Amino acid sequence: MTATKGLEGIVATTSSISSIIDGVLTYRGIDIDDLAEHASFEEVVYLLWYGKLPNKSELEQLHRDLSDSAAVADSVIQQIKLYPKNTNSMAALRSAVSALALYDNEANDMSREANLRKAIRLQAQLPTIIAAFARIRAGQEPIAPKANVSIAYNFLYMLTGKEPESIAVEALDKALVLHADHELNASTFAARVTVATLSDIYSGVTSAIGALKGPLHGGANEAVMAMLEEIGTASNVEAYISEKLANKEKIMGFGHRVYKNGDPRAKHLQKMSAELGKITDNMNWYNMSIKIEEMVTGQKGLKPNVDFYSASVYTSLEIPRDLFTPIFAISRVSGWTAHILEQYENNRLIRPRAEYTGPVNQKYVPIESR
Ligand code: ACO
Repeated sequence: MTATKGLEGIVATTSSISSIIDGVLTYRGIDIDDLAEHASFEEVVYLLWYGKLPNKSELEQLHRDLSDSAAVADSVIQQIKLYPKNTNSMAALRSAVSALALYDNEANDMSREANLRKAIRLQAQLPTIIAAFARIRAGQEPIAPKANVSIAYNFLYMLTGKEPESIAVEALDKALVLHADHELNASTFAARVTVATLSDIYSGVTSAIGALKGPLHGGANEAVMAMLEEIGTASNVEAYISEKLANKEKIMGFGHRVYKNGDPRAKHLQKMSAELGKITDNMNWYNMSIKIEEMVTGQKGLKPNVDFYSASVYTSLEIPRDLFTPIFAISRVSGWTAHILEQYENNRLIRPRAEYTGPVNQKYVPIESR
């Protein structure tokens, strides 16, 4: 038995949800470029769960269901109020999502119908939790979700208490489309491993949030922004990046396990970053990002991934840096839940083996002889 480090190249499951073939990402066979151009996030959610684009009445029904499910149990809001003020935002999300299960009468109902209803609740309530957390830690009261608006609109509204501008809603909506699913990424794999024991959907999503938090996965978007803030301005890029590369340090937002010729989502976020920079009359983050890309791609051959330009996009939308990864979760919960439903449909326990590298033929030594 020989281990493959990081399971690179291992095909661990079949899935009909999303594919990465020759560098092209599709959701249910539709190219991400097509979806980024034309689809709303809610259409994508439907597509991932049901395997087809919704017709008008199906989409309206999903909007109603999400809207009706967006309020979070008051007990969970009260718990969030007890979190320490400096709690990590992904830790807060992980804890609150785990707590949702305690107040869901269907939490342990394993029928597909109940799991779909729970998927709707999770999709609807993650934005409410994150906005509530952000307001509570700032000493403000949470804002109740608005009816009959999109998830992107509602999140910005609940976060700020103001009606968001349409350009901001469109930008966030597109970012949500781009992050919704990505084959067997680390957090989706974590979700599938968890529910393959026939544990419940909340446990699966809680596992996934824990995996997304890390800086090698979803946490990279926050790390990119921390880097941009540290660099400060485009004229400092060269010295900063040269030193990092010379020290063999990783540049966050670059590289990918699967894409070697570039992440197809990055170009959409780059375009949005430039557009939002112009609109907000602040091209600093974009200009720095472009210069970093030139250096890292030029010297290391590494291309930006989805996290690189999303950092400047979210900053242009005036979203606090530590909410970037939770926003990733708002989107990816659609993919996680689609994968959880798929795993239940054709389940087998996921239990690989380890190549043992420890000592052999050891004997128990009595404590007085150690
Ligand atoms: N900056 C500098 N060097 C890098 C980078 C980077 N961002 N990424 C990879 N490399 C180098 C590694 O140092 C390594 O070099 P070596 O062979 O000389 O040791 C080589 O490229 C291979 O890198 P690995 O880390 O082994 O590649 P792996 O496939 O395991 O990792 C990963 C992929 C985690 C995305 C990696 O590229 C990375 O750490 N990037 C930065 C973090 C990041 O942006 N993560 C978000 C990924 S997208 C997402 O999850 C949403």
